[in-house]
Amino acid sequence: MRRYSIQTKIVLPFLLLFALVSIFVPLITVELFAWKYDEQFTRETQGWLNVIIETGFIREPIENIKQAYSVEVMIFGKDYTLNASTLTTLPDVEHNRTYLAEKLHLAQIKQNLESAGESHITRDVTLGGKPYKVFYHIMPLGRLYCMLRPMEQIAEARRTLTLYMLGLAILVIGLVAFISHRIGKNLTEPIKDLVGFTEQVADGNLDDQCEIKTQDEIGDLTIAFNQMTQELKQSRNKLIQAERLATAGKMSASFAHEIRNPLSSMRMLSQMLLQKPELTDDQTKSLQYILEEIGRIDTIVKGLMDFARPASLNLNSHSLDTTLQSVLSLMEANLTHHQIRLVIDFSPNIPEFNFDADKLKQAFMNIVLNAMEAMPQGGTLTVSTFQQEDNVCIRLTDTGVGISAEDIEHLFEPFFTRKDKGTGLGLANVKRVLDEHGGTVEIESTLGEGTTVMLCFPLRK
Ligand SMILES: Nc1ncnc2c1ncn2[C@@H]1O[C@H](COP(=O)(O)OP(=O)(O)OP(=O)(O)O)[C@@H](O)[C@H]1O
Ligand SMILES: [Mg+2]
Repeated sequence: MRRYSIQTKIVLPFLLLFALVSIFVPLITVELFAWKYDEQFTRETQGWLNVIIETGFIREPIENIKQAYSVEVMIFGKDYTLNASTLTTLPDVEHNRTYLAEKLHLAQIKQNLESAGESHITRDVTLGGKPYKVFYHIMPLGRLYCMLRPMEQIAEARRTLTLYMLGLAILVIGLVAFISHRIGKNLTEPIKDLVGFTEQVADGNLDDQCEIKTQDEIGDLTIAFNQMTQELKQSRNKLIQAERLATAGKMSASFAHEIRNPLSSMRMLSQMLLQKPELTDDQTKSLQYILEEIGRIDTIVKGLMDFARPASLNLNSHSLDTTLQSVLSLMEANLTHHQIRLVIDFSPNIPEFNFDADKLKQAFMNIVLNAMEAMPQGGTLTVSTFQQEDNVCIRLTDTGVGISAEDIEHLFEPFFTRKDKGTGLGLANVKRVLDEHGGTVEIESTLGEGTTVMLCFPLRK
């Protein structure tokens, strides 16, 4: 089936209707005027003929009548021979008696006049290529008196008027077509943009937003579509993130397993070597350095193993305050050492509820550590809890270095780190723990001002 654009569908029917109206209305008007004018003309000429007959002017030479009334006169004999005529410019063929009688319908008119008892009849006839209105009058001895009123000028005026009217109609139709094209274009342009944008989205480009050009239903549609694209982008990113986490989890598990065993052997052998009395100071230092580095590798491996731990949750009823407080107590000395002031603002209304305390502690600890590392010159760490409908939220705000907009997108990716000695698994672990609890992690940050991390998860009774 042929495809018509919305613009064509809107504009074409109206344009056709308008074209029909603007062509036919002038034509009908011209016809109506012509008909009325014709009637008036017939009545007037009829009046002249009556006067001519009644005053006996009919017996005057036909040239006088032509002069007096600006009409042509033709008189035909009983056998339709032309007895007299003021028309001298007729072509030869029309001088032919039979042809002329036929053209002027003389036999039929005569019969009508005799049978109907009327004194005269009117007909439109063309002679010598010119239109005439002919008035017939039957005279004594069966002769026919024809008075021909020239209609050429009227026909000409009618033609001119029709042409003017049609010209005007075409002009107006052109104007209407132009205006309706502009209106249609204005209406369909934003739709076209939106269609183009949907094609882009279908091709996988979710980064752009469609420009809102109108404040109407199409504008609303564009806003809704932009929002939908944004949500689609977010869920796609979440999916990619989840996939990355899963892959990294599997890899981490196998790495950790392979590394841990040789690492324990290395640590044991180094410690045994360190017991030997014959070691020089340099050798002892080197061995201690080896043990330190083994310790660091072990921390990384532990992180990997935490990250790869299966997703089963050990849900038990706990107090959130106590759980968080136990981590903060553990960290207190460290925080004081780094000149970090701790502000605690726990909501007193949160009841005990079901969560995996160990995993939550681990996640919370990672965030506190990050905050501490972000405030090397000291600062303030504010920890608050509150309930939001059926969710419990923990908010940690630090006054540290902050995170750039570029980095913020990658924080939950495994192994993303900006620290020399970081593994980049801290926040990936936090995310995993919160996902397992059916919760969310949101991070907002301003470079040079600080960072806020918000953990929210359902209050399970
Ligand atoms: N509170 C914060 N302030 C500033 N930057 C932060 C903060 N928290 C996280 N970051 C940034 O996010 C990155 C990733 O953090 P994440 O905890 O995942 O890994 P890490 O801290 O680098 O390493 P790890 O936690 O394994 O020691 C950090 O390297 C740091 O750049
Ligand atoms: Mg960290």
